[in-house]
Amino acid sequence: MKNLFDKTTINGMELRNRFVRSATWEGMCDEQGRPGEQLLNCYRELARGGVGLIITGYAFVRPDGKQMPGSIGAQSDDFAPEMQALCKAVHDEGGRLCMQLVHTGGQGRAQGGNKLIAPSAIEAAQYTSPPVEMSLKNIDDVVAAFGASAARAKQWGFDAVQLHAAHGYLINQFLSPHTNQRNDGYGGSIENRCRFLMEVYRSVRAAVGPGFPVLVKLNGSDFLAHGLEIDEAVIAAQALDHEGVDAIEVSSGTPASGDNNPVRKKIDTREHEAYNLSLAQRIKQSVSCPVLVVGGFRSLDLAREVVEKGDADYISLARPLIREPGLVKLWQEGSTARSRCISCNGCYRPGLRGKGIACIVEQAERKKAAGV
Ligand SMILES: Cc1cc2nc3c(=O)[nH]c(=O)nc-3n(C[C@H](O)[C@H](O)[C@H](O)COP(=O)(O)O)c2cc1C
Repeated sequence: MKNLFDKTTINGMELRNRFVRSATWEGMCDEQGRPGEQLLNCYRELARGGVGLIITGYAFVRPDGKQMPGSIGAQSDDFAPEMQALCKAVHDEGGRLCMQLVHTGGQGRAQGGNKLIAPSAIEAAQYTSPPVEMSLKNIDDVVAAFGASAARAKQWGFDAVQLHAAHGYLINQFLSPHTNQRNDGYGGSIENRCRFLMEVYRSVRAAVGPGFPVLVKLNGSDFLAHGLEIDEAVIAAQALDHEGVDAIEVSSGTPASGDNNPVRKKIDTREHEAYNLSLAQRIKQSVSCPVLVVGGFRSLDLAREVVEKGDADYISLARPLIREPGLVKLWQEGSTARSRCISCNGCYRPGLRGKGIACIVEQAERKKAAGV
């Protein structure tokens, strides 16, 4: 039977357990995307805290594919010393580091009078302003940018890359009929809507070679009218599996999906935990590659049950590791305490103020204890 603390291997990448820090924008880089001391300390603390694999916040593959301030950049060759230092800090603590690659498309922030790009020039609640439809040349250029960024990540010493195909960003925009209304070979049938994802995957695979782990984060459902639903997500997952993807992480939702957005609040009971589990189960049943499940995991026994039953191979955590970077180590050492994260999403706030993400509940409790 599979165990949460098994040592496993994903295409040669050795992992010390089945816990993953799911990609989490940290807001700790400069305007260009260059990481500094703060991000290095953040990753060191996470790796010291026991999690097997750390996935970076979404790293933009081109400047026009950036959304949040302080995001990490994969678009430039200039960051080698800082990126190598991140990898070394994680490796020194026995962890592994995967770079998540993104183009945010219509969910980006338009800069310098340039319009956002997306599969179709339509207004969508998830977009900040109406985008322009990508030309075939645009598509080829973005596909190439993903490949170039993946090559950099490998060269810098990252252990893997993950393509962000979820949460309403550009790859998801192509997959979803809600945002993809193209009449050419990239729109219409699910096979056509998968074309951009598969071209990005092949570009990345060609750049890093067969022996380097390439993961994909995929929405099992967009939870939007005319959005991507599980039956079509299964087709996308199977296409990736067939091409040799090394693992698929199952998530759901976009910022426009209301209560079913990717970062749900009120995970206050066991019933509210693991909110993407049924989607992950469907994908797990349909593919041969390992499956990661993210979204609302707060209890050790539920994580254990999912892995032991074989409903997923890895458990991904985001907010619980902002509150308690050492949670996995605590669990490994015998604690059965539920995560102290209350899923309030206050962690975004300091990040948006330029200070980097942090648990504001933890900060307030510390201040109170210190009598400040
Ligand atoms: C502050 C913050 C930043 C996030 N940034 C990313 C990101 O860069 N890429 C991504 O795929 N998901 C991102 N997410 C979503 C998480 O990876 C995860 O899917 C979601 O938080 C649900 O998991 P959780 O309940 O363990 O937090 C972010 C979540 C938070 C709270």
